[in-house]
Amino acid sequence: MTDVATDATKILMCPPHHYDVDYVINPWMEGNIHRSSQDLAQEQWGKLHSVLKDYAVVELVTPQKGWPDMVFTANAGLLLADQVVLSRFFHPERQGEEPFFQKWFEDNGYTVHTLPESLPFEGAGDALFDRAGGWLWAGYGFRSELDSHPYLSKWLDVEVISLRLVDSRFYHLDTCFCPLTDGYLLYYPGAFDDYSNRLIEMRVPEDKRIAIDEVDAIVFACNTVNIGRTVVMNKASETLQKKLTEKGFEVVETPLTEFLKAGGAAKCLTLKMTEPRAASPQTSTIQSRVVHLEGHLLDSGLVNQTLDTIVSGGGSFQVIKFELGKQRNDKSVADVKVSAPDVTVMDDIMGQLIDLGAVSIPRESTSTTLEPVVQAGVAPDDFYVTTIYPTEVLIGDHWFRVQGQRMDGAIAVTRDNGNITARCKLLRDLEVGEEVVVGSQGIHTIRKATSLKKKSSEEFSFMGAGVSSERRVELVVEQIAWDLRQIRDRGGKVVVTAGPVVIHTGGSEHLRKLIQGGYVHALLGGNAIAVHDIEQSMMGTSLGMDMKRGVSVHGGHRHHLKAINTVRRYGSIAKTVEAGELTSGVMYECVKNNVPFSLAGSIRDDGPLPDTKMDLIAAQADYARLIEGADMILMLSTMLHSIGVGNMTPAGVKMVCVDINPAVVTKLSDRGSVESTGVVTDVGLFLSLLVQQLGKLTGQYTKVESIR
Ligand code: ARG
Repeated sequence: MTDVATDATKILMCPPHHYDVDYVINPWMEGNIHRSSQDLAQEQWGKLHSVLKDYAVVELVTPQKGWPDMVFTANAGLLLADQVVLSRFFHPERQGEEPFFQKWFEDNGYTVHTLPESLPFEGAGDALFDRAGGWLWAGYGFRSELDSHPYLSKWLDVEVISLRLVDSRFYHLDTCFCPLTDGYLLYYPGAFDDYSNRLIEMRVPEDKRIAIDEVDAIVFACNTVNIGRTVVMNKASETLQKKLTEKGFEVVETPLTEFLKAGGAAKCLTLKMTEPRAASPQTSTIQSRVVHLEGHLLDSGLVNQTLDTIVSGGGSFQVIKFELGKQRNDKSVADVKVSAPDVTVMDDIMGQLIDLGAVSIPRESTSTTLEPVVQAGVAPDDFYVTTIYPTEVLIGDHWFRVQGQRMDGAIAVTRDNGNITARCKLLRDLEVGEEVVVGSQGIHTIRKATSLKKKSSEEFSFMGAGVSSERRVELVVEQIAWDLRQIRDRGGKVVVTAGPVVIHTGGSEHLRKLIQGGYVHALLGGNAIAVHDIEQSMMGTSLGMDMKRGVSVHGGHRHHLKAINTVRRYGSIAKTVEAGELTSGVMYECVKNNVPFSLAGSIRDDGPLPDTKMDLIAAQADYARLIEGADMILMLSTMLHSIGVGNMTPAGVKMVCVDINPAVVTKLSDRGSVESTGVVTDVGLFLSLLVQQLGKLTGQYTKVESIR
């Protein structure tokens, strides 16, 4: 499509008789109240008017006293052929202009469309037709609501591309964006969010994009009236002038400083009435959904987090209902309408809201969407990826609790004689005939109020620095000891993952005591911890180092292979114990105290021990089985096995990560789960403190009855 012929261009302006800066509704107006000169404004407006008359037919609307911003006719409405969508101003300061513009449009034969009340949209200030593609670029974020865009698309029969404005200085689309003849685009990328910049780059080829710098942006270089090959603006730097000239445009500068004080310039002062008829078909990809929030919304910060998530995800919101609980313990409820420029953005936002524990109210369908598994081990596209938080799904009109909660799985639904079960499954375990939850409708995660606070995990540093941190580690160990004691005494479950460092740092004797004391109900690790433990028990060395004297023993580097060999001879660790060949150590205590253990193999394993599972899928399944029902997981200096365990642990399980390397601790404890505690310290030292503390609590380590 080509641009309209120059002689056909018609423009609406409003003389500045009543213009002044009377209030502040954008950053430019700040400090400028009554600071613009009436005379100069008159003169500058007059010049613009006369320049434009050379290129277009200019019509005038009568200015009205008390409505100083009426000079900015761009905000009267959005015109296309004989249709106009009347503006609904965001600020009351400008709402009084609406009837005057409406009357002018009606008197001049336009069909006027009015938006629902309280749905702000500021006309051609926030909506600009592309001059080649025929679609409409529409801005939102400050003055116009995203939800107005579908109306534009419907009434004007155009495709709408929604762009999100993020810099308050560029509060209207026309302050930072100007489509030019032949599909060129003059714009300031800094005014838009990343997603919108991507949209722009997808639609406008690189050689047609004229991106300007801030220096030009702040003198309103984008606020340009473009007629044919002429661009009329307040001011442009030499660089910009050169760029425009190279692309075949003639730049006309006309100073509009007095209007800049109100946050407007050339384009704002005009409304083009002859827009080319759109070529592209009507579509609007805008999505809206209502989410329902419930709980201690203010205390927990859920409302803020929800609204932030929506906005930073590229959507917009309207709070439809908010009922604040009256007493401290009362719950609050809120309904929030979420709008997003398209399905992808909506799904992304919804995914994050579900993680926050926001319940989505599905619009038409009452239930989650299910799609069948057609290939074993492969989920349908768009499957919902699970988190560590307890989850419910709406099927029919029942909410079903998802079983086997863990992160990074899919939700598989099976129906057995009308009995519906929803369960977290790994992709590889999906079976043909099962159905899988897709999209984000009808899914709800349950989060404790406290687990919403982002930086929830605590970290304690021991080796770190300072005397006070030593005291802090003591305090945290006290707490952990107390928890361990509670869990043990009520018949709960503690799982330990441990790396070989536990043995090297002399932690073995303490870990043994924990096992003897009934504080450990499953041990998870790799080949190495078992090998080093057995080597130490059999030969007094760990990887050839004498553990008592701290020196390497002659020929000691072969010790660990000898240990492996012995266990291989007997067929398993348990059988080695039975044969009386292994008589002490961590593994020995596990066998003696019936504490199940699982050793997961890896590429670097020597041997391995017969007990080590080299089939990793089987090892993962074994770990998962042992973790089930855990109340606490003690992660002792093994990043590999701890991350493995973390991935399969649902929220609500206390996790304590101990490592000398702060990076490991951070990585493990920062899972958004409030129940995690990180301790940066030597693991041997930690265990000795822990055992000492437990001793203070109990006076002894004797095992209580009925530990499972
Ligand atoms: N003071 C006016 C306002 O804040 C300026 C409007 C500028 N118009 C525009 N299309 N950018 O609403």
